[in-house]
Amino acid sequence: MVIGLDASGNFGFWKHIDGYCLRHHLDLTKDPNLKKSQSQLMGDLLSGLIKLSPDSDETLLRQLTQQLRSLITSGRLAPAQRLPSSRDLAQSLSVGRNTVSFAIEQLAAEGYLTTSPGRRAVVSIGASLDARKPQRIKTDQRTVELRVSPWARSLHNASWPPIYRGRPRAFQPGLADEREFPHDIWARCLRRAARSARVRGDSSHNSAALRKALQQHLAEHRGVKATPDQIMIVPSAQAGIALIAKVMIGTGDLAWIESPGYGGAFAALQSAGAIVAGVPLDEFGMALGERKDIPRLIFVTPSHQYPTGRLMPAGRRLELLRFAASVGASIVEDDYDSEFHYEARPVSALQGMGLSTTVLYVGTFSKSMFADIRIGYIIVPERLIEIFELAQRHMGLSAAIPMQDALAEFIRNGMYLAHVRKMTRLYKERRDQLLKALASETGDRLSIEIPAGGMQLLARCGAFARDDQLSARLLEAGVVARPLSSMVFHKTKAQGLFLGFAAWNDVEIERAARILGRIVR
Ligand SMILES: Cc1ncc(COP(=O)(O)O)c(C=O)c1O
Repeated sequence: MVIGLDASGNFGFWKHIDGYCLRHHLDLTKDPNLKKSQSQLMGDLLSGLIKLSPDSDETLLRQLTQQLRSLITSGRLAPAQRLPSSRDLAQSLSVGRNTVSFAIEQLAAEGYLTTSPGRRAVVSIGASLDARKPQRIKTDQRTVELRVSPWARSLHNASWPPIYRGRPRAFQPGLADEREFPHDIWARCLRRAARSARVRGDSSHNSAALRKALQQHLAEHRGVKATPDQIMIVPSAQAGIALIAKVMIGTGDLAWIESPGYGGAFAALQSAGAIVAGVPLDEFGMALGERKDIPRLIFVTPSHQYPTGRLMPAGRRLELLRFAASVGASIVEDDYDSEFHYEARPVSALQGMGLSTTVLYVGTFSKSMFADIRIGYIIVPERLIEIFELAQRHMGLSAAIPMQDALAEFIRNGMYLAHVRKMTRLYKERRDQLLKALASETGDRLSIEIPAGGMQLLARCGAFARDDQLSARLLEAGVVARPLSSMVFHKTKAQGLFLGFAAWNDVEIERAARILGRIVR
């Protein structure tokens, strides 16, 4: 029910039944004592809506204030509606007049009511959260529409990220095995960082200690060339990619992405306004070929191409860097799980290869430590530091400083590297175990690209089944296998299953491979 005034100022109430408003006019214009009657009648109506309990733990004043406030915010007391006088309302509710006066004063102070001396309080315009109009609601007005920005609509339309409800299941890709993480040592770093947390003179959202530790680590292990100031600490690699897209992309700019490729990057670029072209791969990664289109930005995963796991060799890296420089494109190098390399020393990052191309480097700790750490980083060219720091602030894309400081200590004291080395051995064993299990359980049904590193592999299936249907059947049986078709951004019939091996022990791998074998055979 809505209580309010009609267009000609008459007082009335509207009842909502099944989406219709039934309006019951109370034509009081002929009443000689109109003012008093309106006030008293309004008091009577309100007493039907307000339930005060003397036995409640709340005072009568608090109960009355809360209930009046909620009648206003729900729209049941319409904007511009005049309340009864405090005397009439007190009488209708059988409470003291002071209680009513104090409640009205409180709501006036909060802006829900407007008061003026000698006049009854009025419900303030705009105090209602309910946009219903006291009129018949047409059916088409009731259709639910996403009244959000183009950015949000674009995210809504992107089929990323895949959501798997419940506990993680074998072979969910992208997950580290956090059961193997040295939680006690990490807890000590966190405790020390929390104890020494003080207001810093430095207003940066990037911990100087973590910037320095990371810079040294990345220079030594990834060949990255940067000063600590070029490193922005963000809550995840995905946040870093979104930040880069926001800063580097204008509406209608062309962005290239590997196809198959990383859906999170596709969604971030497209929602930032880019036209995203999926560029097919050859054996070395993104195939530049004879393409005629000129991108503004190129997104690649050269260490372990996502999802094939292919390593981009030095020749293709140089070709890519030269091409980007020649057309003035920037490269986003996503080095998401490059710590885990199984065959030889990993090829150095594109970022450090010394050409004049603009390379924005992305990394994350959610693979090398554990998914919930929620810390990633980007490395930007020197000339872009200021604009990226500003954008980082505006978007609030920062990680808690004590957490950053704890991570700095974890890296500095060698625990990070020790953990990465231990997990590299373990993940290699798991990769090999999965390869063996797939060979024995699935025979020649799947053709597997053996990844040189990383945490997952791609098993291609021929035309015998659709990968999305296989994936759905596997999920029902308790195994997560992402369909390749959900990761391609160009026209292709390629079918396959993307399987994570890092987070699963030998028993889990054997069991899930048996289920996979049963379903694909
Ligand atoms: C290729 C690639 N890049 C980036 C990310 C995002 O990592 P983060 O969890 O830090 O957002 C992922 C996560 O799966 C990924 O697979």
